[in-house]
Amino acid sequence: MNQATVEFRHVSKQYGPQGAVVDLSLTVPAGDICVLVGPSGCGKTTSLKMVNRLVEPSSGQVLIDGQDIMRVEVTELRRRIGYVIQQIGLFPHQTIADNVATVPRLLGWPRARIQSRVEELLELVGLDPGRVRDHYPSQLSGGERQRVGVARAMAAEPPVMLMDEPFGAVDPIVRERLQNEFLRLHRALGTTVLFVTHDIDEAIKMGTRVAVMQQGGHLAQYAPPTELLLHPANDFVGRFVGTDRGLKRLTLLTVAEAKIQAGVVARVGEGARAAWRRALEAESPWVLLLDRDDRPQGWMRVEQLAREGPLTADSMDASSPLVHYETTLRDALSMLLASAVQTAVVVDERGRYAGILTLDELGIAFRSDAEPRAVEVA
Ligand SMILES: Nc1ncnc2c1ncn2[C@@H]1O[C@H](COP(=O)(O)OP(=O)(O)OP(=O)(O)O)[C@@H](O)[C@H]1O
Ligand SMILES: [Mg+2]
Repeated sequence: MNQATVEFRHVSKQYGPQGAVVDLSLTVPAGDICVLVGPSGCGKTTSLKMVNRLVEPSSGQVLIDGQDIMRVEVTELRRRIGYVIQQIGLFPHQTIADNVATVPRLLGWPRARIQSRVEELLELVGLDPGRVRDHYPSQLSGGERQRVGVARAMAAEPPVMLMDEPFGAVDPIVRERLQNEFLRLHRALGTTVLFVTHDIDEAIKMGTRVAVMQQGGHLAQYAPPTELLLHPANDFVGRFVGTDRGLKRLTLLTVAEAKIQAGVVARVGEGARAAWRRALEAESPWVLLLDRDDRPQGWMRVEQLAREGPLTADSMDASSPLVHYETTLRDALSMLLASAVQTAVVVDERGRYAGILTLDELGIAFRSDAEPRAVEVA
């Protein structure tokens, strides 16, 4: 895989007497997505630009795979670094294909190879090459232009990608799609990424590690998202991460990490009275009905079960959301709050019953002051 370690060693940048970045030390391991986040003017763009020498540090060193970047010839350095800038930055008088081909052309690739690489990259970022290839940037939407920017940066398979608010200029729905596409792309390519945003939710979603920067160019905390949410290093980080930390943390946890309970179940065809007895024993007001293949059908109230005769699929009183192991606890919570039973039914990849997840269990994961007991696997 094409990836490299990036290290800032006591890096500072001053503009006159003003520190834009002050004594920044952090290491981005190869293949990680490091997100720099913080308020406007805190030094995110400056930090990023010091990696490809668009800005030169006043003191300290930036190293890529242990090599001081000041010892690398600048064009050589930039060839190895993809760069997606704030406000898109496509060349307006070049077609989309020519924009994407910028670096391969610089590298002197033969025409045919450039062409096939361009097609491949456009497809990779979800654009139809046949449609957009010969367009100019002004003929594309904001979201499409962002994708072209990403494709252009990926063109030379750089071991390091610098992305400065790459999804800043698009609406929330397109943004979410671009984020997911980029995460998928990153899983496939494994490039080391430095990603700038001022949106803490985006940082938590995208980052392997998140560097929270503070006004005046100081690094307030550098930690994985969970750590940031659980243990903000100071008041600034705490405030920046926000008051709904508990809710945010639910985005990081999936049903697989929550405590799944056995629940009281009955099967279609089984006698109602037997199910009734089990429910009373378990002091459960509800029994979940499964079909013969263990697929959940819905809930029955215990009062409805005090009768003779077999259970049928139309014995149900309520349904409840089905969640999978990969469902985030935040999504599970939303679904659960909308259902009468306030219990989510967990099913495996084939739709078979795996257990139940209760609101109480979610509440434990939800409380930001407690250690996340929900992380225990049941
Ligand atoms: N060329 C420059 N000359 C003088 N000061 C500069 C220059 N570039 C940046 N600065 C200052 O350095 C500080 C950090 O700027 P930087 O662009 O890194 O912030 P940022 O965190 O990227 O902000 P934003 O979220 O608004 O993009 C700011 O106070 C800015 O005014
Ligand atoms: Mg900036």
